[in-house]
Amino acid sequence: MSGGTQRVATVEARDEAAPDIALITLRLPTPAPVPPPGSHLDVTVRLPGGDETRSYSLVDLGHDGLLRIAVRRRRDGRGGSVWMHSLTPGDEVQVAGPVDEFPLNPGSAPSVLLAAGIGITPVLGLARALRSRSSDYRIVYAGRSCEHMAFAQELEAAHPGLVTLAESTRGGRVSPAEVVAGVPRGGVLYVCGPMGLLRDVRQVWQQEGRSPADLRFETFGTSGDHPARPYQVTVERLGVTVQVPVGTSMLDALQAAGVEIMYDCLRGECGLCRVRILESDGPVDHRDVFLSPRQRAEGRQMCACVSRIAGHGVTIDC
Ligand code: FES
Repeated sequence: MSGGTQRVATVEARDEAAPDIALITLRLPTPAPVPPPGSHLDVTVRLPGGDETRSYSLVDLGHDGLLRIAVRRRRDGRGGSVWMHSLTPGDEVQVAGPVDEFPLNPGSAPSVLLAAGIGITPVLGLARALRSRSSDYRIVYAGRSCEHMAFAQELEAAHPGLVTLAESTRGGRVSPAEVVAGVPRGGVLYVCGPMGLLRDVRQVWQQEGRSPADLRFETFGTSGDHPARPYQVTVERLGVTVQVPVGTSMLDALQAAGVEIMYDCLRGECGLCRVRILESDGPVDHRDVFLSPRQRAEGRQMCACVSRIAGHGVTIDC
């Protein structure tokens, strides 16, 4: 999804927020109004196969006329984050937005903010806004170790006593059940992290009969249960077979071959790109948050925009 009018922004600075995480400061040609917390910027990244759009949450909201985004370098990605890490001051990038798709609840319900990895970026702005409202909130931030968790120290300093760091290398882990239990009834849970975490949290949330409107999430479809590997997809009724390389989605591969598939979010949330699996020689690596646990276990459908096959080939109908 695009953030509307395209503008050219200039890179003011690129700093290291943590290992493999760049903090990129951008200046717009004319200052934008300060966007709501949780907003993101759509950036056009240059890839060998052509330009693509990536969405990056704003680390802060540009009160000084500058916009800052944090980008984690993905070594198994399609190259967008590597291209972003190559930017230097003075470079120009095409941007659209800011776009507000992860808004704060307007009410005064207690809030828990759960971030994992680079998912901390929108949470920074949300937490700042909750603090300025004197809201009842707390933050759970999961990552490898404090040294690898961008903005961990700033977060603790800005929200004393309200931040729980779960460092996996030090035995810390996030239990979706505990996080959900820590949200008072009627409270709101904001989650930004990998698909697997979102799925697990959503499952507990549903099991507890909580209101879907009180679970707000932002996804990044980067992590599956299996390493990404190339595979082949065949659309039986069309007699079309294409390769799906690492770094390319099934949806992209099929579209490039002229196969029409409906889609919208491209983030595994809306289910519009679902295809029916007729046969597969490997398990489906579901990376969406749309399908239910039962649908995933049945293995008869998958979201072509984010999910993959952990095998050599799959035959589908779409
Ligand atoms: S396009 Fe929304 S789930 Fe794939």
